[in-house]
Amino acid sequence: MVEAIRKSTREEREKWLKEAFYNLFNLRSEYVYIDLLTDSGTGAMSDKQWSAMMLGDESYAGASSYLIMKDAIKKLFGFNDFLPTHQGRAAENVLFSVLVKEGDLVPGNSHFDTTKGHIEFRKAKAVDCTIDEAFHPTLYHPFKGNIDLNKLEDVLKNNPKEKIPFVIVTLTCNTSGGQPVSMQNLREVYSLAKGFGIKVFFDSARFAENAYFIKIREDGYQDKTIKEIVKEMYSYADGMTMSSKKDAIVNMGGFIGFSDRKLYEEASVYNIMFEGFVTYGGMSGRDMNALVQGLDEGTEFEYLETRIKQVAYLGERLKKFGIPLLEPFGGHAIFLDAKRFLPEILKEEYIAQTLAVEIYLEGGVRGVEIGTLLADRDPVTRKNRYPELELVRLAIPRRVYTNSHIDYVAAAIENVFERRSQITKGLRILREAPIMRHFTVELDRV
Ligand code: F0G
Repeated sequence: MVEAIRKSTREEREKWLKEAFYNLFNLRSEYVYIDLLTDSGTGAMSDKQWSAMMLGDESYAGASSYLIMKDAIKKLFGFNDFLPTHQGRAAENVLFSVLVKEGDLVPGNSHFDTTKGHIEFRKAKAVDCTIDEAFHPTLYHPFKGNIDLNKLEDVLKNNPKEKIPFVIVTLTCNTSGGQPVSMQNLREVYSLAKGFGIKVFFDSARFAENAYFIKIREDGYQDKTIKEIVKEMYSYADGMTMSSKKDAIVNMGGFIGFSDRKLYEEASVYNIMFEGFVTYGGMSGRDMNALVQGLDEGTEFEYLETRIKQVAYLGERLKKFGIPLLEPFGGHAIFLDAKRFLPEILKEEYIAQTLAVEIYLEGGVRGVEIGTLLADRDPVTRKNRYPELELVRLAIPRRVYTNSHIDYVAAAIENVFERRSQITKGLRILREAPIMRHFTVELDRV
């Protein structure tokens, strides 16, 4: 699908920013020239996906689209049962309704915000067991999404088993910068958790990009296909939650995969309540067809290589200019290190949000804050949580932009970098929601 985009003037953007209360989520998309807010649901579907949509079976129960999707999930991931949901957080909502209770602990590698939100909403706690290397923006480690086995073992050892419903591993780890988890780590996490009788789930939004990095960076996988690697990855999981809006390259959709039939049956009750009957969940038949085709295309090496190299192309350009960013480059996005980019801004003035606002102002390029706004307040003390890293994520939609667009983005950011010493004041909050505030927060300049 090809869409027109429109350039704007600096004066227009200044006005629109003010009207949007300095929250880029509040901007109309037509006010954005290059939209790197997210790679979620923003990909361009292929000819084969569009044509698969024509064959969607919209029957309420037992649709052929459901059965095709069941076969595809079994073939790719090895799970016998699945529930369709309208997107990833809906999969979390259904699964966690069965598994997460007040007072529970859910260890994992830097949980995504909706995952953490669904855990905390149930008065449970997400425990971050990511390796320490992940928090050093310039340190090279091929698998910065890895779980620190000692940290995980501490949690599993020092708490009653009933308090730990499962371990969740996010592939690739979005929150720590689109960083992959190695096959070895997946194997070890699974074996450690099994030893304690605890289940492992994969938050799978970018599972194919994770498999690409295993192929490229981990010994013994160079000659395997992405699909073979995926199959092995999921042999170390009891189930998965999936936002299909990323690596399945559809605009909307998700699912939960299960190896445990009893858990599938329990979750079905919540799926019917929140999403829809078990054979469509939150999805139309035509959407399930597009998803199945997208899963196949999204796990082809040539596609993944083109995509991930385009992300790296932006990273290399910015790096050459001396712009501080997170390395190695993520699979789906480049993450600017806002603390080093804008050293004068106080952490109380939302450093990464300030940088995201400046980049929009400069070139109509929309990125997203991964910093204090996203980290939210501590649910108990209600104090701001200041994360170690203040990042601006520039997420690249799949099959949408050319490298000329990427050059434009780089030039805009380079301009901001050149005038960075004049940016000395950040933002303050006018209004915020009690949970997941970053989506709707209203701000003003300090
Ligand atoms: N897990 C991960 C790792 C994600 O990145 C997302 C969404 C979800 C779960 C939730 O899925 O949006 O389909 O409900 N990430 C998007 C992003 C929103 O911009 O990174 P969803």
